[in-house]
Amino acid sequence: MSRIVVFASGSGSNLQAILDATDSGVLKANVVGLIASRPGIGALERVARAGIPSQILDPDGILTPGKEVERLGRWLDEWKPDVIALAGYLRKVPAGIIDRWQGRILNIHPSLLPKFGGKGFYGLRVHEAVLAAGEQTSGCTVHLVTQEYDEGAILAQAVLDVAPSTNARDLASRVLQLEHNLYPATIATHLERLKA
Ligand code: GRF
Repeated sequence: MSRIVVFASGSGSNLQAILDATDSGVLKANVVGLIASRPGIGALERVARAGIPSQILDPDGILTPGKEVERLGRWLDEWKPDVIALAGYLRKVPAGIIDRWQGRILNIHPSLLPKFGGKGFYGLRVHEAVLAAGEQTSGCTVHLVTQEYDEGAILAQAVLDVAPSTNARDLASRVLQLEHNLYPATIATHLERLKA
């Protein structure tokens, strides 16, 4: 079975979609660990319920860059993932980790990249910008993670019509539904590709 480590900073609904897909067999893999950027997030509760181990990267808000790479490296060496799935992870992944896991770190972003990506485009801001620009379509993108925010190779996208959404919150929740299908399916395809 392939091994997935998830990195998260929030409620973890994409993490849940990945867990559900491993349960149903859509994704023939196990989530073997969660790295939470901070304490108290929903993603930690979800893995606890599933009996999956987790680590908190910065429990007291005083993490140095050296310590960050050392901690991440140690946990990843222990969990030995085939892929790392960022799911609402709001920290930049250090260069040392990206180099070591090149081609194996995936992210999901709630827009049709390269539009509405890069530093500052996260959460509701993305959808506010899509509406302000008068876009007809939006959606989500799964891409490989490089050292530049949201710039790695695009692996898959799912598209919807912005109408009938009239506000950013509504658009966000419609895009999130798409994410929950696209992310597990794309992780499955990527794992197959890595094995071939
Ligand atoms: C999603 O919209 C994802 O595209 C973005 O962060 C959000 C995470 O939501 N990277 P959740 O924590 O998975 O519910």
